[in-house]
Amino acid sequence: MVASNGLARRNAILGEIGIMQWRLRTPAAGCGEAGAAGAGVDWDGLRAAVRDCTSCALHRSRTQTVFGVGSRSARWMIIGEAPGAEEDRQGEPFVGPAGQLLTEMLRAVGLGREQVFIANILKCRPPDNRDPQPAEIEACSRHLAAQVDAIRPRLILAVGRIAAQSLLGQDLPVGRLRGRVHSYGASATPLVVTYHPAYLLRSPAEKRKSWDDLRLARGTVAPAGP
Ligand code: URA
Repeated sequence: MVASNGLARRNAILGEIGIMQWRLRTPAAGCGEAGAAGAGVDWDGLRAAVRDCTSCALHRSRTQTVFGVGSRSARWMIIGEAPGAEEDRQGEPFVGPAGQLLTEMLRAVGLGREQVFIANILKCRPPDNRDPQPAEIEACSRHLAAQVDAIRPRLILAVGRIAAQSLLGQDLPVGRLRGRVHSYGASATPLVVTYHPAYLLRSPAEKRKSWDDLRLARGTVAPAGP
């Protein structure tokens, strides 16, 4: 699990009873320029670590890894589940039909894809788009943790059950996790959960709830700005 330490468990319990944690954000190690996000980060090294990763069996079936895309100083980081067929082919997250809906959802809060950073829990496509296995999530977690450390987003939007449960270390359904602001990791980054766009394509009636989630996120941290 991405959030499998004691802090995550404590936060998960506090989150469960509706208490959000606020903590002073400290500059990430290695950051120059008054701790500006992305400063001093070895992006080439992060990319190479993902590109060359053989930590789980998915490396054998992938066409290519899908690192993530967007602004290295994004205020919002969008985290999905895993690449699908189109993402595996193009090497970019959320470019298939679900991705097009995600792009529209972001547009609805005034954001272009280039203003956020979009990544997935897994960097390789699971065969036949099956659910990621816990061991795969664990093996891939160092890459996502490194990305979050590098970008230091002010808000994380977790899209879908796998992302939400992995990031929060909880096993509740999305319907129980959405609608409030959680806290992610030692940085206590505010985290909002919403439905996966692939689910919304199958259940368009739920789109209104997703819009509520985006408004919650926008009210928590303005998606663009200095
Ligand atoms: N679904 C995801 O969760 N991520 C992608 O990149 C594409 C579809």
